[in-house]
Amino acid sequence: MNVYTLDTLQNAVAAIKPAKLAVLGKPISHSASPQLHQAALDAESLDFTYIRLEVDEGMLKTAFHSMAALGFRGCNVTVPHKFEAMEACDIISEQAQTFGAVNTVVFTEGKTIGYNTDGPGFEKAIATSFDLKLTNAKILVLGAGGGAGQAIATQCALAKSSELILVNRSLEKIESLAEKLRFISPNTKILTLRLDDSELKYHSLSVDLLVQTTSLGLKATDSKVIGDDFFSSKTCVYDTIYNPAETPFLISAKKAGCPTDNGLSLLIHQGALAFQHWFPSTEPLFPMKRAMQQ
Ligand code: ATR
Repeated sequence: MNVYTLDTLQNAVAAIKPAKLAVLGKPISHSASPQLHQAALDAESLDFTYIRLEVDEGMLKTAFHSMAALGFRGCNVTVPHKFEAMEACDIISEQAQTFGAVNTVVFTEGKTIGYNTDGPGFEKAIATSFDLKLTNAKILVLGAGGGAGQAIATQCALAKSSELILVNRSLEKIESLAEKLRFISPNTKILTLRLDDSELKYHSLSVDLLVQTTSLGLKATDSKVIGDDFFSSKTCVYDTIYNPAETPFLISAKKAGCPTDNGLSLLIHQGALAFQHWFPSTEPLFPMKRAMQQ
């Protein structure tokens, strides 16, 4: 599928099946969102196209105005725009304010409204992948300082996990995140650790859920996030990366006998929740799952 820019956006609306939805990011050509959402649009017999739109940093507000004027229903926002979207929207849902990031936008009655479906999508993904509830669980997030890691850790706090271990290469970002999460969930025990802390192995072996959210594993040459001896067979292990489907991290976890899953379920669940913001009372989950299995 093509990538459009603000200059060529008009062409996408003039097509036989006009573009009414898009994913905005830069780079954007790799995004699987069109495949996901187009399947649900087709299943619901909605004659719209979902496109990729490459937008430069600092141009999000302009992009929202252009899309709203062209009759778009809404859009998804991805890297690096999820934080800029907070300022570019007219209204931010209370829930997206808690996350400090927007990944779903609805254009309605002349207003741009921002939501976040990453956190709730993660909770649903974990429930379906492992039949595990975040509430009262001991959870360790590797890469908690990154965009995905922050959203996941925030959802764990909202769900009142019993213990949350935030791990990052550098401590700065997770110290301020920990402050925020202690406020959200005062009864959750929250600990921050550097990736090279000698205590990491002990915690990694004792949690219910281990979540990998760093970018390590995207490239074949990447080093392992943690050692092979950091996995207990009792721990559910989730990697937010879905391409490749099996990172060295997940291979190590499987070898240790852990239940595992990759980020495809998160992609699908956050997508289904976004779709329901644009089209309430639809059931996009099944067509989305089917589309991603192909
Ligand atoms: P974002 O998600 O905010 O765009 P990113 O650069 O993709 O950020 O990084 C996501 C996460 O991967 C971060 O937790 C990052 O750690 P830092 O906050 O210390 O940068 C982590 N990360 C990226 N490369 C890494 C590496 N080589 N080793 C360990 N962690 C890494």
